[in-house]
Amino acid sequence: MSGERVAVGIVGAGPAGLLLSHLLHLAGIDSVVLENRSREDVEGTIRAGVLEQGTVDLLTEAGVGSRLHREASFHRGVYLRFAGATHHIDMQELTGGKRVTVYAQHEVIKDLVAARLAAGGDIRFGVSDVALEAIETGRPALRFTSGGEPRRIECDFIAGCDGSHGVSRHSLPAGTLQRYERIYPFGWFGVLVEAPPSSDELIYASHDRGFALVSTRSPTLQRMYLQCDPGDDVADWSDDRIWAEFRVRLETRDGWAPIEGPITQKVIVGMRSLVHEPMRHGRLFLAGDAAHVVPPTGAKGLNLAVADVRLLARALASFYRTKDESLLARYSDDCLRRIWKGQRFSWWLTTLLHRSDSDTAFDRRRQLAELDYITSSRAAMTSLAENYVGLPFE
Ligand code: APR
Ligand code: PHB
Repeated sequence: MSGERVAVGIVGAGPAGLLLSHLLHLAGIDSVVLENRSREDVEGTIRAGVLEQGTVDLLTEAGVGSRLHREASFHRGVYLRFAGATHHIDMQELTGGKRVTVYAQHEVIKDLVAARLAAGGDIRFGVSDVALEAIETGRPALRFTSGGEPRRIECDFIAGCDGSHGVSRHSLPAGTLQRYERIYPFGWFGVLVEAPPSSDELIYASHDRGFALVSTRSPTLQRMYLQCDPGDDVADWSDDRIWAEFRVRLETRDGWAPIEGPITQKVIVGMRSLVHEPMRHGRLFLAGDAAHVVPPTGAKGLNLAVADVRLLARALASFYRTKDESLLARYSDDCLRRIWKGQRFSWWLTTLLHRSDSDTAFDRRRQLAELDYITSSRAAMTSLAENYVGLPFE
């Protein structure tokens, strides 16, 4: 068995793992990234697509923002649509210049993979059987199989960036983590549509029949979502049924309708809010979806992952520079303050816009009153805006 050594062993080549590896490289710290999927798979999986201003600024400062600045769509805000009318929330004006950036997660991943490989970074795609060892000692290690061969890499630290179904979190002794969870009684039916954009900015619609969202991917490819039953089968949703539902949920009194086109992908995603605390155990640090998951309504998942690894890279850089462990000791608490605000916002926007079977007529009238309040009070609008474009990094 080969024995190797690296400063930081990273499990998972999602946004969290790749950005961490890149930020560590900028600080002169070596790392290895272990990923069980292929590069093609990782770069091709369609996920969310909205970046907070702080995420864009961080990617830019880290030298991985040039394609983003050429190809992303930059929006002033979003539209809220309910009761047959559309209301613009001008987030740029409300937050002193912060914008909504629409750039797909897998494009961020492609940019990060390219930057790591160009700098000679070590990403091992397609490995299997990743296992974490001795995380409570000063010499933790990653064991895995690569090309049929067993391997072991000794590290100073391990970063568990392997998403909600990864192995890292399960390597902690039982009873170490506190789990906070809420499951929602609805899911999102997501489609990719070959058509020009229906709107210049995203539309979040609340309708008696449920939520709908109009997002975009490019001038020729659109992303749209419908609230559905999480137990629905994609096969039960014909293109005709999907378009009929979009037309109804998005209709306005002045006759707006989405531009239709061939649907090239259909997926159903469940919705939950989940936090595991603390995000550190011994020499293992959890980041991103490995520690916490949000429902997609506020588009916070990727942004929270980025905020975690920003702090982790800083804490590790400070440790290697001065042997000072204080930022590492604070890592979990520092992350969780932002995570819980992101959880609150994602929960709030989800419950504001979706219909639940247990909702009464009173609940619907209350939702509509809140939407009316948000779109007519500058204070309420600013609260939505500052959370959506991203609260400042502390
Ligand atoms: N071994 C190696 N790699 C693994 C393992 C494992 N046992 N388990 C999972 N992985 C990989 C996954 O294949 C994936 O590429 O870890 C990566 C985790 O990436 P993400 O799930 O994207 O998580 P994260 O980097 O935290 O980014 C969070 O992703 O899920 C979205 O909406 C979420 O936008 C958010 C963002
Ligand atoms: C997306 O484009 O995938 C998207 C946009 C906004 C959201 C969630 C997802 O709130």
